[in-house]
Amino acid sequence: MCDKSTAILKVEKLKKQFGQVHALKGIDIVLDRPGVYGFLGPNGAGKTTTFKLIGGLLRPTSGRILIGGIDVGAETAKAVSMLGILFDQPAYYPYLTGRENLSVFNRWMGREDQDRADRLLDMVGLGGAGSRKVGGYSWGMKRRLGIAAALLGDPAILLLDEPTNGLDPAGIADMRKLLPRLAWEEGKTVLLSSHRMEEVSQICDHVTIINKGEIAASGTPWELSTGQPWIEIESADADRAVNLLEESGMSSEIRRRSAVIIDVLAAGKTAAVINAFLVENGLEVTGVREKRESLEDIFFRLTGAGDDDR
Ligand SMILES: Nc1ncnc2c1ncn2[C@@H]1O[C@H](COP(=O)(O)OP(=O)(O)OP(=O)(O)O)[C@@H](O)[C@H]1O
Ligand SMILES: [Mg+2]
Repeated sequence: MCDKSTAILKVEKLKKQFGQVHALKGIDIVLDRPGVYGFLGPNGAGKTTTFKLIGGLLRPTSGRILIGGIDVGAETAKAVSMLGILFDQPAYYPYLTGRENLSVFNRWMGREDQDRADRLLDMVGLGGAGSRKVGGYSWGMKRRLGIAAALLGDPAILLLDEPTNGLDPAGIADMRKLLPRLAWEEGKTVLLSSHRMEEVSQICDHVTIINKGEIAASGTPWELSTGQPWIEIESADADRAVNLLEESGMSSEIRRRSAVIIDVLAAGKTAAVINAFLVENGLEVTGVREKRESLEDIFFRLTGAGDDDR
């Protein structure tokens, strides 16, 4: 393990080129304490490539990755021994049970402690299914087994590439319970990638947004949203509210949401100020509310996701 002054994971100016494709254009990531971190980006942003580089499965074009202060390029085996990774399609022996699969992986790592494998099966909610053949597991059960497998070596860092892909709402809810437990009870640093913001905002305390091979933003959802509070105004005379605000120059952007609701972006103005202005001008305002940008808004603002130019 690493001492307190050393970041658990440090990615420095990481670049990866595949022929003419610049998959990563010099990204930096620092994770310096246990927690559940989100790595959010649209398809093709570079998430899986980043994880493969961290796991020593690809060589970077340039840049450096340190795990607990150890350079993945220079001491790959030692560095990645602190890592557990789950990729999209983990491979299992379908004719062996979940428990037997874990014990095979355990022995590959030179470990014999079946107790730990059993405890991990319990932790991921497969305690009751451990003696069933993996060939009969659902997609969600295979995902959970993958997490148990990634935890076998007791890694400090767990990289999960789209762990909620293909899970039903119950599976996602389970994941939402499991991952914080790993962070807060087991002291793990969990980095999970996703292109679904609502999931990341529910699971992660810290988010790094990647887009087209570059880091677009990094921080808590709260920090990322501080710049731009929207003000929602409800009035039967929404047309007039729009006119008044446009003429006043107070708002930089107005979005019409329905016949009676508008959203206003008014830098430096509180909801109370906007409300007072409208009321003073004789408008009947039936509701006013300050809304922080959701992670979804931030994501679209920063990535322009929906553009199909990957
Ligand atoms: N082996 C490869 N050879 C060539 N190009 C590659 C290779 N692997 C990835 N790329 C390219 O690198 C870019 C980033 O891909 P990557 O798989 O890391 O994205 P991602 O964020 O994981 O996307 P997704 O959400 O679709 O999984 C894409 O343009 C992709 O086409
Ligand atoms: Mg991917």
